[in-house]
Amino acid sequence: MPLVTTTEMFKKAYEGRYAVGAFNVNNMEIIQGIVEAARETRSPVILQVSAGARKYANASYLKKLVEAALIEAPEVDIALHLDHGDSFELCRAVIDDGFTSVMIDGSHLPYEENIALTRQVVDYAHARGVVVEAELGRLAGVEDAVKVDSKDATYTDPDQAVDFVNRTGVDSLAIAIGTSHGAYKFKGEPELDFERLKTITGKLPGFPLVLHGASTVIKEFVNMCNAYGGDIPGARGVPEDMLTEASNYGVCKINIDTDLRLAMTGAIRKHLMDHPSDFDPRKYLGVGRAAIKDMVIHKITRVLGSADKI
Ligand code: G3H
Ligand code: 13P
Ligand code: ZN
Repeated sequence: MPLVTTTEMFKKAYEGRYAVGAFNVNNMEIIQGIVEAARETRSPVILQVSAGARKYANASYLKKLVEAALIEAPEVDIALHLDHGDSFELCRAVIDDGFTSVMIDGSHLPYEENIALTRQVVDYAHARGVVVEAELGRLAGVEDAVKVDSKDATYTDPDQAVDFVNRTGVDSLAIAIGTSHGAYKFKGEPELDFERLKTITGKLPGFPLVLHGASTVIKEFVNMCNAYGGDIPGARGVPEDMLTEASNYGVCKINIDTDLRLAMTGAIRKHLMDHPSDFDPRKYLGVGRAAIKDMVIHKITRVLGSADKI
């Protein structure tokens, strides 16, 4: 089956109160691990490529790897998405290259500029059958968000979200309710602003929301990295039950990168320490690929609820 857009995926996810995982990819083993997990669990999946991943792997290589995934797993609904597109030109390039979904991230811009840039991408994308995700509110600065005042300054404003969606025609919206990127998300107890999420959903019924920075930073893998020569002290992510809860309130796409990085790195670190004479990349990258697959199966079956939805 060819690549799909996220339109049908999100409609089913919204109605079924589950979320589709959007997993960051940048090499063959990661793509294979994710797609194999989706195939085994019969789950739809979003493969997302950041500007950095595109630069690292080269756009043509990534495209051909994803084409190979479509051949190997024809029964799986796969969308190919640009993660955190930062310009109209980048969005246009990947749309012309066959991506079925793009994110234009104008969240750092003044509000009217975010609207203008998003609108420009939406016009180009929709004319070519491609869907667009935008972002409103700022993910960074969770540590500032303890006080209500600063929450209001950085988290997504519900009324502004309605205005933004209406004026841009965007297909989904990434919101800020307390998550952040990377392995250090919370200084104290993890907390998401569910009241804000419910208010946004109430004002935008049926509209798919997106949660970035949604890795759990699972202790087992942080500990594995640290036990085998890594140095990632005090890492902390979003508890799994909070992510499952979010999918009850219109969150249809959950972005996961850090948990894949931790799983792959932990497994490879352990393998190389346990097998000091091994210098065959197929052995340790194979272990890394298996760790990616296991992690994605865990996410699909225990957190997202997207198994058996294709
Ligand atoms: O949200 C960002 C993703 O984790 C991708 O990170 O820009 O290092 O590829 P990256
Ligand atoms: P994590 O760093 O929590 O995995 O978030 C990834 C993400 O939001 C990619 O856009
Ligand atoms: Zn993100």
